[in-house]
Amino acid sequence: MTANENGNYTGKVAFVTGGASGIGRATALAFAREGASVVVADVSEPSNQETARMIEELGGQAIAVRCDVTRGEDVKVALDKTVDAFGRLDFAFNNAGIEPRKAAPTAEYEEDEWNRIIDIDLRGVFLCMKHEIPLILKQGRGAIVNTSSGAGIIGIKGSPAYTAAKHGVIGLTKAAALDYAAQNIRINAVCPGYIDTPMMGRFTGGTDEGRAKVIAEEPVGRMGKPEEIAAAVVWLCSDAAAFVVGHAMIIDGGQTVQ
Ligand code: NAI
Repeated sequence: MTANENGNYTGKVAFVTGGASGIGRATALAFAREGASVVVADVSEPSNQETARMIEELGGQAIAVRCDVTRGEDVKVALDKTVDAFGRLDFAFNNAGIEPRKAAPTAEYEEDEWNRIIDIDLRGVFLCMKHEIPLILKQGRGAIVNTSSGAGIIGIKGSPAYTAAKHGVIGLTKAAALDYAAQNIRINAVCPGYIDTPMMGRFTGGTDEGRAKVIAEEPVGRMGKPEEIAAAVVWLCSDAAAFVVGHAMIIDGGQTVQ
């Protein structure tokens, strides 16, 4: 499928963090297919440029910017570049994130690892919204989606930092959603289950055995595809979701259904 000149999002601009890989890349491409211009923000270069190139190959418009979401100044500069390139900001997908290096029970969890995960997976989402919201307010309306996780819904044994960060993203999403609902900015979250991305490859060790273990936790008997999260993000940003505010949408094949 190519970028759509008459798509639902023609003339709109989407900012995607973690857009160099996995869920972020799939969502950047999905926005472009709907006609949006896309800013691919990521610490990882040249992979962010590769996503932008893939969008251009579809006939879409994109720029890649190097941005570490833990640095407010980086985020601000990336958003300035967004406005310089495309004149506005309509949608933001705050999705950049990292997985824990290893599992450990809470009392044995290293403080540095706690800080590293909270910094990127939670504080990064806050910093992005802090700088995105004033731009969206300027033009009167828009939508933001933040990436939480199944770990935002249930506790994960041996993963206190990731669980806390992803629960935190949902709380942050709800508070921000209430702050800006009356000003036409809808803020929601997605909670993906096990999704087949480079992150999941690291988590499973990329082995058949590792993958089988993860798949065994999925009632549907498979991992999700990044495109299945992208579709939800694009929908949450659309007018079809105009009454959806502060929602944490679970897209996980039934993994967290109790
Ligand atoms: P991925 O590792 O394939 O992509 C994550 C991207 O974030 C990478 O391009 C990386 O360079 C970027 N990133 C990391 N730190 C950054 C920083 N400080 N500033 C800017 N960019 C940074 O991971 P995947 O699987 O696509 O995950 C995306 C999001 O979805 C993450 O927030 C993750 O926690 C979440 N998630 C993933 C699940 C999965 O099964 N893959 C399940 C539930 C949630």
